[in-house]
Amino acid sequence: MERLVIVSNRVPSLSLETSAGGLAVALKASLEESGGLWFGWSGTITERPGPQPRLDQCGAFSLATLDLSDEEFHGYYEEFSNRTLWPVFHGRLDLLRPDRKAYQIYRKVSFRFAHALSSLLQTGDAIWIQDYHLVPLGKELRSLGKMAPLGFFLHVPFPQAETFAALPYHRELLSDFCAYDLVGFQTSACAENFREAALRYLGGSLRNDGDIAFGTHSVRVGVFPVGIDTKAFREMAGSSDVQRRTQRLRACMHERDWICGVDRLDYTKGLAERFRAFEMVLDETPALQENISLIQIAAPSRESVLEYRDMRSQLESLSGRINGRLGTFDWAPIRYLNKAFNQAQLAALYRVSRIGLVTPLRDGMNLVAKEYVAAQDPEDPGVLILSRFAGAAQELTNALLVNPFDTSAVAAAIREALRMPLMDRQMRWRQMMNHLETNDVHAWRREFLKALKATSNRARDDSSP
Ligand code: F6P
Repeated sequence: MERLVIVSNRVPSLSLETSAGGLAVALKASLEESGGLWFGWSGTITERPGPQPRLDQCGAFSLATLDLSDEEFHGYYEEFSNRTLWPVFHGRLDLLRPDRKAYQIYRKVSFRFAHALSSLLQTGDAIWIQDYHLVPLGKELRSLGKMAPLGFFLHVPFPQAETFAALPYHRELLSDFCAYDLVGFQTSACAENFREAALRYLGGSLRNDGDIAFGTHSVRVGVFPVGIDTKAFREMAGSSDVQRRTQRLRACMHERDWICGVDRLDYTKGLAERFRAFEMVLDETPALQENISLIQIAAPSRESVLEYRDMRSQLESLSGRINGRLGTFDWAPIRYLNKAFNQAQLAALYRVSRIGLVTPLRDGMNLVAKEYVAAQDPEDPGVLILSRFAGAAQELTNALLVNPFDTSAVAAAIREALRMPLMDRQMRWRQMMNHLETNDVHAWRREFLKALKATSNRARDDSSP
């Protein structure tokens, strides 16, 4: 395997710095090692997108990007990826409104991407496709005669087989997944759900090693929990820049305790439930009023999608109601911020916050939970409260694990975290940190690529289901 080709809906910007998200940095590091290619959407919508990708050099590797038309952006990105697949993968069948036209456009984009990519491929390439936007791409490449090792990693959860089957196109999509040589998931539960769906709806056979076989083709199913760049994040959190920022924050905290939440504004993140749990803490423990604040960052996301706009209004009215009812002249219970912040700003926020409140209703992994831990001061670490339904809960078992739907349980965990003795906090933090140091994002990509390489000796044809 000589060159790595990464494919994702979004590609890093040309000015990607180490302060960008851990995942982009780690994938970039693997491309720098192999002098590879990153292929995906340019982020631009044009009237008539051309068939040829735009090529840019980004240090040791190349970026190849395609524009989308307005119709493609709407059908592929908004309607099918984010209004159909997203709710299904997160178990929100109440939000599912499948639309055949959007599905056809979704497939057409994979077809167009595969054609554009195939002209750039070289012998010896290994291709690694990221996430749910481009599931059919591997099969399209096979049908174009490309015999390179093909890996796919799903960053979001894979739901139970019956939930996935609510999607009218579940068989075709499962067959797309099974065209890869390796399909990776965040947790063993997701991998099991996928195996069950593939066996039940496609009729493959389960081999002893957990692969699923269809005639001469088999797909390897693996578990690769994605990590952060722990060392880099920890170093940044201890840097003089972040120290200056934490001093500034402490000066405006007036000795109050902060709880922080950092999320994309998304209905899967459990933000309304989180606000209610915080309100319950304040109502039931009046002594905490004026002594504690929740700083909630909810970076706007997918704003053209109706459910995201609805969520935004709901959160605005909920935070407004809580602040209006409980706030005082010089204290707002919830500071609710609708914007994105850079990694140094977030590291400072994590470091001054007594509690990191990460309570998604469902989440593939959740890297904020990991970054919160990595940013802590080892002498006086804060406490992570983490949803059992985030992939990260499988690894960060020394967090206070909660059911995010259970308001009283989340409120009780907040009180427990505020009371937690220093030794207990240090012990929990040390154990989580040990795990994050070994299982970082570099280990994640190494393990995935090793497993992909191990599939290289198998027969490759387009006989997938
Ligand atoms: O975590 C899932 C994911 O869809 C990523 O693939 C993506 O980078 C992120 O959420 C942000 O979403 P979007 O690309 O729709 O802004």
